[in-house]
Amino acid sequence: ADALKIGVAGLGTVGASLVRIISERHENLATACGRAITVTAVSARDRTKDRGIDVTSATWYDDPAAMAREGDIDVLVELIGGASGAAKDAVNAALERGIHVVTANKALLAEDGVALAALAEEKGVLLNFEAAVAGGIPVIKAVRESLTGNTMTRVYGIMNGTCNYILTRMEKEGLSFEDCLKEAQRLGYAEADPSFDINGNDTAHKLAILTSLAFGCEISCDDIYLEGISNITQDDIRAAAELGYRIKLLGVAQRTGGGIEQRVHPTMVPHDTVIAQVDGVTNAVAIESDILGDLLMVGPGAGGDATASAVLGDIADIAKSRPGAQTVPALGRPAKSLEPYKRAR
Ligand code: NDP
Ligand code: HSE
Repeated sequence: ADALKIGVAGLGTVGASLVRIISERHENLATACGRAITVTAVSARDRTKDRGIDVTSATWYDDPAAMAREGDIDVLVELIGGASGAAKDAVNAALERGIHVVTANKALLAEDGVALAALAEEKGVLLNFEAAVAGGIPVIKAVRESLTGNTMTRVYGIMNGTCNYILTRMEKEGLSFEDCLKEAQRLGYAEADPSFDINGNDTAHKLAILTSLAFGCEISCDDIYLEGISNITQDDIRAAAELGYRIKLLGVAQRTGGGIEQRVHPTMVPHDTVIAQVDGVTNAVAIESDILGDLLMVGPGAGGDATASAVLGDIADIAKSRPGAQTVPALGRPAKSLEPYKRAR
């Protein structure tokens, strides 16, 4: 079969990891997918930056939307970030053109996911976004595919690696909030604007996406009670420990008599629970459903390679699928009911 040609927009922490991994594992991927995966086009802001990857065989675009419109590509992989601007323009241009999109951009999906999913469906292409929630953990696949037929009652967990990294190092090493945040930035865990991490917005974006998939309701960050970790002090952490708790930033969505409740806030978690033991950049997502029961997925929640792993899985799904064969809506339709999500076709 012909190679799957991908255009990578954004060559930062995640994009550079992805390009390097595809280059290093070219033959394994071709065997696994039944066709080669080739990076034919790339886009970033600074053409001269040394990124530790070789992109000389790919066509360079200063404008990612131009790459999406005109590039010799079958898939746009959007790894720029942000709910508006270059990322949004490129994703829209690719979908309008009728090519598949893979993105890790939860801010964009939380804002425009339903419209983008509808456009993808209209054009008969895939919009894949496994890396947008909980980094490398395959939680989107679990909710969207593996748990089909289950009625989900609660989805919750640690969904921001930066915050969990900060809280862990503050507690275990007595470091200051600011020093931990700087280190999380250096390691490539934090968002370009880290206030999205520490104020809880990033967790809210991820929770909104999961809520939509799990419960079939419209994505709505405005409906989420939101409190971040920027006011958490060493005293809070010590007081919690004395009482037998650890402080974790949790996102929680659950079915209640009155509808779906969604909240993001620092939470005192009993220290002998699995979630309390999840340290550092690791994320944990718990899903409670009626057929399976309780599922807990724990794994790397941020970082270049971990996130690129999820992006690569999405690309491989496209490489293995017959073009245009999508029959599953990618994100919750704007269903008014709170009934479990029903596949429409
Ligand atoms: P980075 O900030 O490291 O990289 C962003 C890239 O986008 C850079 O290469 C930058 O170019 C490029 N870029 C920015 N603006 C433009 C523009 N106008 N035109 C062209 N290129 C542009 O981000 P990350 O790799 O960390 O994150 C990428 C996405 O993945 C985000 O949506 C993020 O939320 C998501 N994500 C990140 C995770 C992580 O652990 N880092 C985990 C899960 C998801 P240049 O390098 O030239 O400045
Ligand atoms: N900034 C995010 C985090 C990246 O720390 O979890 C992964 O989505």
